[in-house]
Amino acid sequence: MTASKHPGSGSPGPLGDTGEVWVENTGTYPLVRPPVIEAHDVWKTYRNGSLEVDALRGVSFEIRSGEYVAVMGPSGSGKSTLMHILGCLDVPTSGSFLLAGEDVSAMSEEELAHVRNRRIGFVFQQFNLLASMSAWRNVELPLLYAGVERAERKRRALEALERVGLDSRVDHRPGELSGGQQQRVAMARALVTDPDLILADEPTGNLDSVSANDIIGLLADLHRSGRTVVLITHDADVAEAGGRTMRIRDGQILEGEPAESGAVGR
Ligand SMILES: Nc1ncnc2c1ncn2[C@@H]1O[C@H](COP(=O)(O)OP(=O)(O)OP(=O)(O)O)[C@@H](O)[C@H]1O
Ligand SMILES: [Mg+2]
Repeated sequence: MTASKHPGSGSPGPLGDTGEVWVENTGTYPLVRPPVIEAHDVWKTYRNGSLEVDALRGVSFEIRSGEYVAVMGPSGSGKSTLMHILGCLDVPTSGSFLLAGEDVSAMSEEELAHVRNRRIGFVFQQFNLLASMSAWRNVELPLLYAGVERAERKRRALEALERVGLDSRVDHRPGELSGGQQQRVAMARALVTDPDLILADEPTGNLDSVSANDIIGLLADLHRSGRTVVLITHDADVAEAGGRTMRIRDGQILEGEPAESGAVGR
């Protein structure tokens, strides 16, 4: 997190608008970076009638500011469940989950929506774009929810599309774009709010290898510019882009290198 990351915005640090729960953004790195994410003995049980599935079974880990973590594991191991919790899209059944030092279970719906909208960028395997809207309209959506005014929304959406190399396709609808281009639109939508945390769930799963490399390159750029990136993947080559790999199987974490190893500038 550098002072230049939020030029003129006065925003003091990742995730919190007030920055109170974060290490102050002095423009210098603390010796040990604060954890963005702390999970302690997190369980997630899905209940459908009498059927219960323990998708996460007591996972504990930390992710520090500026890390790039790849999460790997077989199908059904709990990766997406984990990402939903990391992204405040869902809450643990038990255990504690702290985002920027703040217990998510203590946050109101409004606070959670605010964190999701302003501070986290999501990228999904299925792109999740609105088919009837042009690329730039899709990209401006998070800004619309954030109450940014129209001209500013368009300016920032076009800037984000340029950043992912799609400035020549801003008026195209998703159906008029290739899979790789659609995922780049989704990347632009994820970064348009200038989030500190990027969560990507199999973002290259539906792409050819060239488009997949583009997306991995964009994630690496975001990481280099100070964002914390969590990338879920089945693919060991894709996982290599990360600073460390967290392996998950049957809802449990198997191994992980020390948290510091993935941070920028070490
Ligand atoms: N909404 C749900 N209701 C019931 N069970 C669910 C639900 N979502 C996931 N599960 C179950 O939880 C387990 C973990 O699912 P999850 O989607 O997290 O796996 P995953 O590691 O992301 O798999 P994949 O690689 O196939 O995407 C699976 O056994 C799945 O069937
Ligand atoms: Mg999944």
